[in-house]
Amino acid sequence: MVYLELNEKNILTAAGMLRAGKLAAFPTETVYGLGCDSFNKDALARVFEVKKRPRFDPLIVHIASLDTLERLVDFSRLPAEAERRLSVLSRALWPGPLTLILPRLKTVPDLAVAGLETLAVRFPAHDGALRLIKESTGAIAAPSANPFGYLSPTRARHVREQLGDAVDVILDGGPSDIGLESTVLDISSAAPRILRPGGTPRLAIEALTGPLEAAPTSGVKISSPGQLKSHYAPSKDMYLHMEAEMRRLDLSPDAAYLFFSRESLKTFAENNKLEPGLLDGGRRFFVLSPSGSLTEAAARLFDTLHTIDALPVSLIHAERPPEGGLGDAINDRLSRAASTERLSKR
Ligand code: TXA
Ligand code: MG
Repeated sequence: MVYLELNEKNILTAAGMLRAGKLAAFPTETVYGLGCDSFNKDALARVFEVKKRPRFDPLIVHIASLDTLERLVDFSRLPAEAERRLSVLSRALWPGPLTLILPRLKTVPDLAVAGLETLAVRFPAHDGALRLIKESTGAIAAPSANPFGYLSPTRARHVREQLGDAVDVILDGGPSDIGLESTVLDISSAAPRILRPGGTPRLAIEALTGPLEAAPTSGVKISSPGQLKSHYAPSKDMYLHMEAEMRRLDLSPDAAYLFFSRESLKTFAENNKLEPGLLDGGRRFFVLSPSGSLTEAAARLFDTLHTIDALPVSLIHAERPPEGGLGDAINDRLSRAASTERLSKR
């Protein structure tokens, strides 16, 4: 594996490797992706192997130009209304953290789409990623660069630690700006719906499309494994709490604590009569957003969970941030990281 800084020269090197059927991990504005040429079946098979990803879980194809849609999407199967939506959404929200599900052309390998009739497409808002896509094959299939079910990488170091030599090249472009995966929106049929909340808030989409169908709930057939109950998960047990419960928790010697705001940590510390010194030196008390903003919380979520996962504690108590905007996606990831069985009963 080669580990390279993200610059023009190294982008060209990685692009050459992608053209030759190799796997390249690269930064995007959401999380790091594990990329390969979307039309190379051997390379696609390797992506599934490296991630230990089940073959039923389709990949997202990353593009750097709208023209590329002609090679991927079967426009004859796209209802007129959906085509209008595609045009409105792509003009307003691409490049950006929005993945669209569209009818696919038969020429796209089955492996990329896990045999589905549809295809996920994303136009990332990241200059380095766009250069890499343009200079390679124009259509790069890339899941998040983590083992299946584990936390997504928001730094190149996370990719190196989790996948290491199984990848041919890792481009290090620093920490991801958004820190949460893209929103997956299905517009392949008459009624559009969100399959995975993410970096583009629901309201930003509804402002363009009108009200979306309610999010699928448990019991619905899983059409997007990002919907699996336990996903995006650290290796430790995690419990979720509403703000008031979190502040009232008793201190346990075996737990790490992930607060949303400084105020929550402060109240918890007062309730447990913690010395300020213990808070600084304890290294197991974290605040997701010192400034209380959801954008900051999203950007720090996976990175903080990676840090906590490496600590000598056996469980994690985490506070739910408020709903709305990016709060929906953060809460979605936290719930899946905790999985329902482990949710706080109180
Ligand atoms: O932000 C992101 O989307 C990142 C970066 C690397 O672009 N990628 C990412 O990929 O999160 P991945 O593979 O971890 O998640 C893709 C999600 C999965 O939940 C998958 O099931 C869903 O998109 N998906 C892909 N194709 C689909 C399809 N045809 N229909 C429904 N869901 C699909
Ligand atoms: Mg993923």
